[in-house]
Amino acid sequence: METPLTLTDVEAVALENIDPDWAEYFRGGSGREQTLAENTVAFARWRLRQRVLRGMETTSTETTVLGHPVRSPVVVAPVAYQRLAHEDGEVGMARAAAAVGSALCLSTYSNASVAEVAAAAPDGVRFLQVYVFSDHGITDDLIAQAVDAGFSAVFLTVDLPVVGIRDRERRIHWRFSDDSLPSVRYAHDHGSAGESLQLIDPALDWAYLERLASSVSVPVVVKGVLEPADAVLAAEHGAAGVVVSNHGGRQLDGAMPTLEALPAIVEAVGDRLDVLFDSGIRRGTDVAIALALGADAVLAGRQPLWGLAARGEDGARQVLELLREELAVALHLMGCRSVDELTLEHVARAVRP
Ligand SMILES: Cc1cc2nc3c(=O)[nH]c(=O)nc-3n(C[C@H](O)[C@H](O)[C@H](O)COP(=O)(O)O)c2cc1C
Repeated sequence: METPLTLTDVEAVALENIDPDWAEYFRGGSGREQTLAENTVAFARWRLRQRVLRGMETTSTETTVLGHPVRSPVVVAPVAYQRLAHEDGEVGMARAAAAVGSALCLSTYSNASVAEVAAAAPDGVRFLQVYVFSDHGITDDLIAQAVDAGFSAVFLTVDLPVVGIRDRERRIHWRFSDDSLPSVRYAHDHGSAGESLQLIDPALDWAYLERLASSVSVPVVVKGVLEPADAVLAAEHGAAGVVVSNHGGRQLDGAMPTLEALPAIVEAVGDRLDVLFDSGIRRGTDVAIALALGADAVLAGRQPLWGLAARGEDGARQVLELLREELAVALHLMGCRSVDELTLEHVARAVRP
């Protein structure tokens, strides 16, 4: 296929390029993949409201994420093992994010070290996603290295005390080549990548969050919240933010699509916490809907990953720029000068979903 021009083209090229086993790993969900499917369908239940003759020459997609100025409200979500998608891996993804002005969240299961990612994009806004291993010392070391390397928040993923039942992953053959992060080395020493997720402490509790939040010098964001009650507990135990997420439909199949969970969480904690959103972002108009429903920013997992798989760093940059551009066009057509102007008044429920 020729150089892809659109988001849909990029995904098609990505799926042609990647080893079929890894394609299954990246695209898959859990169970019957109901939540995976509903994450995207949920966006079709909302309409964006067009406004006209607003006298606007241009719009801005600039905002802040956890207090850091960014040019785009689309954060690159933590996605494991990016060198399985393309040899540019996390280093290429970090360069792409910095070039577009998106923040990046690096997975615990990264194929590049925190120092390599920091060196690749020294000016980029970067966060570390954390899985807590049963040996908490491994996690503490990783966080310390990341803070040293200028990572400015820890995203504690809480929706994976055990691994979801992922049929596709159970069928594939895991092979490794690169394991530069200590956490990844540790995981690999203890089995395959599939098995390595089982090294995660299954019994974390709110007291752990409180200890973590009071012991690290950067804000802690709780990733994987779907209930307002849990968002309130996150606020009470020291979190600076939450990510409304169902892990891209890879954990509890049958869990609600994140777009349905978002409004109640914004209502419960929106005045106290940064509320980020992910799972199902496929187009810039999806970003507009999530922001209008009260998210401060969104994370995109599979979309930038398809860009990386299609054309390495350049492909990831293209996807992030396409998402930003689509958002900018939507903002203009809705008569919003900036993302911060998006409110509930800019969306309506679909009459026929
Ligand atoms: C292949 C893959 C690997 C992922 N690895 C991680 C991970 O290591 N840590 C984590 O917190 N979330 C991980 N996630 C979840 C993403 O951070 C994010 O929540 C999800 O991809 C958002 O949904 P989307 O793909 O529809 O944008 C992964 C998702 C995918 C698709």
